[in-house]
Amino acid sequence: MSEPVSRERLAQVTGRFDVGEKPSPARVYSYALGGEHYYAVDKRFVEQQVAANPDYLHILRSNRGAVGRVVEYANREHGITQFIDIGSGLPTDGNVHEVADEVAPGQCVVAYVDNEQIAVAHSEILLSQSADPGRHHAVYANFLQAEELWDQVMAKRIIRPDQPVCLMLMALLHFIPDEANPEAALEFYREILPRGSLLAISHITFEEPPNPDESDEGVLARWRDTVQAYANTTTAAHFRSRERIRGFLGDFEVVEGPGWTSHWRVPDPGVLPEEYRTKPWRSQVLVEIGKKP
Ligand SMILES: C[S@@+](CC[C@H](N)C(=O)[O-])C[C@H]1O[C@@H](n2cnc3c(N)ncnc32)[C@H](O)[C@@H]1O
Repeated sequence: MSEPVSRERLAQVTGRFDVGEKPSPARVYSYALGGEHYYAVDKRFVEQQVAANPDYLHILRSNRGAVGRVVEYANREHGITQFIDIGSGLPTDGNVHEVADEVAPGQCVVAYVDNEQIAVAHSEILLSQSADPGRHHAVYANFLQAEELWDQVMAKRIIRPDQPVCLMLMALLHFIPDEANPEAALEFYREILPRGSLLAISHITFEEPPNPDESDEGVLARWRDTVQAYANTTTAAHFRSRERIRGFLGDFEVVEGPGWTSHWRVPDPGVLPEEYRTKPWRSQVLVEIGKKP
């Protein structure tokens, strides 16, 4: 088991001394999913969210489940063996390379990318302990600096640029505000991906229950408060409508979704607790996949 990188070490590496003063979405997510890499501020943030919103863990876990099913779907339905996971976060259960190795043992290559140094440091530690350096790498880069990110990933020489790739942007884009122009970066990635590639997105949204008679019992008000609370972390979060999320796929053919993460390609949603089984929208995150024609 690896320890979280100390604040002193991180300050040395990053030149930043504020690390660990505010919760970070990467560490918050890791802690909420049972991971080991977090600081007291992250734990406190999760505890506050759980106390205020009983759906909080369900929302995060449903998204993480969808990450694994994207990998399975891409390989089984499209024969894809190359994955670039941008906004990969801290290693936790069901990392992309682990799922890929279960689905297609020894065949898949995975590049993890995050712009949080601590997330990348931990990914490197995990990969050095348990992965195959010929097939798995972690890269420190920013989604928004698309060309630079792409060059860094290609420099690892595990991705073949002429073969289809599954580009995963799972629970990433809602951390990018409109002002940062995520569309420009997306345009670059859609353009450079080889034909037959998949673009997989999961994104938070805010939707009324589909059945007008159905009461939301305060679910949406609590969800809005949860998302607002992220303004007190290192990275604020932003809702987008399903139309905006669809727009991120550009001219790619929509092959999956939009689906609610708690139900999308889940073998047996019947095992979910009643309130989630009958109300998929309570997972509040949509997953959608496009394919480059
Ligand atoms: C909630 S985690 C998602 C982890 C994983 N993709 C999943 O869905 O299970 C979001 C991650 O996006 C990363 N992130 C946020 N903005 C980013 C950016 N501009 N470039 C790269 N990564 C970013 C954060 O550091 C964090 O690790």
